[in-house]
Amino acid sequence: MSETSFKQRVFSGIQPSGNLTLGNYLGAVKRFVEMQNSGIETIYCMVDLHAITVWQDPVALRNQTRELAAAYIACGLDPQKSILFNQSQVSAHAELGWLLSCVARLGWMNRMTQFKDKAGKNAEKMSLGLYAYPALMAADILAYQATHVPVGEDQKQHVELTRDIAAKFNHDFGVDLFPMPEPIIEGAATRVMSLRDGSKKMSKSDPSDKSRINMTDDADTIASKIRKAKTDPEPLPSELDGLQGRPEARNLVNIYAALSGVTPDAVLAEFGGQQFGTFKPALAELAVNHLAPISGEMARLMAQPDEIDRILGDGAMRADAIAAPVLAQVKEAIGMISSR
Ligand code: AMP
Ligand code: TRP
Repeated sequence: MSETSFKQRVFSGIQPSGNLTLGNYLGAVKRFVEMQNSGIETIYCMVDLHAITVWQDPVALRNQTRELAAAYIACGLDPQKSILFNQSQVSAHAELGWLLSCVARLGWMNRMTQFKDKAGKNAEKMSLGLYAYPALMAADILAYQATHVPVGEDQKQHVELTRDIAAKFNHDFGVDLFPMPEPIIEGAATRVMSLRDGSKKMSKSDPSDKSRINMTDDADTIASKIRKAKTDPEPLPSELDGLQGRPEARNLVNIYAALSGVTPDAVLAEFGGQQFGTFKPALAELAVNHLAPISGEMARLMAQPDEIDRILGDGAMRADAIAAPVLAQVKEAIGMISSR
């Protein structure tokens, strides 16, 4: 085990693949902001190298990357306090990704449930990148020797793989270069579910737009999606136990709790015994009050693409200054000559 104590540093990323959802907000971005404001060094990335593991139209990719940057800032990430950049501007990610894919074992990759979910029966037609992507994610984290990684529940397995890769590298080369990063999965909404099906994750890529709340939805759209969200005919219970076997009800309670910063118990203490006819309008109002200012600010920022690009360029230089020396130490440990 590691003897060295590493400086506390947070790294996380989101794919600029469009349609940032309430799930991304509650599971990830809201937490990014809390960590930024707790005084730890924070680095947040738009992972465009990950996004292209499935087809992205070039014009749309550029736009989605700026939109994600705008969302980060509109939600409260401050480019002075956090390093904000798009992954492809810092070449250490791709380089370390290759080096670590020579450390990761095929057996480990074959256990990744996200690949199985995304590839389904079409694995033969998927890109090699989609399969290799967890090794790139390990590189993202380890290039900064990050110690904490705030993510939603679905990314836990990838952070655990990162720990395995870090430990094997340190062991194989007899160094203490990489920390064991901790996944930080906290809050009432670490897995926000679809509004149409409480057994499925709320996702950018769900074909039904009604299944999710997008960060760019206007107030009427948010309210209408919540009003039409699937539920059951029972009133809300007064205790958490009463949500068993009621995934849709549980999801709406969790969303309410996460948005208002209280526990699901507290939500049930307030709404227990009430019908969805009362709860849904309260949730809609809460969601609109929370999200409308964010989408307004995003629209304002999106009108200044040059300013967004400037922020990303500045962030990339600061990120590179941390990652390049780590990459140099990795190559040195592996036995590569650097003589330029
Ligand atoms: P992605 O959109 O797949 O790039 O995910 C970016 C971040 O959002 C990751 O930390 C995910 O775990 C988180 N995330 C995505 N969807 C959800 C969801 N439905 N509930 C909670 N967190 C989510
Ligand atoms: N794989 C993550 C997702 O799809 C995004 C991601 C890429 C990431 N690199 C990362 C998250 C590094 C945390 C740390 O959601």
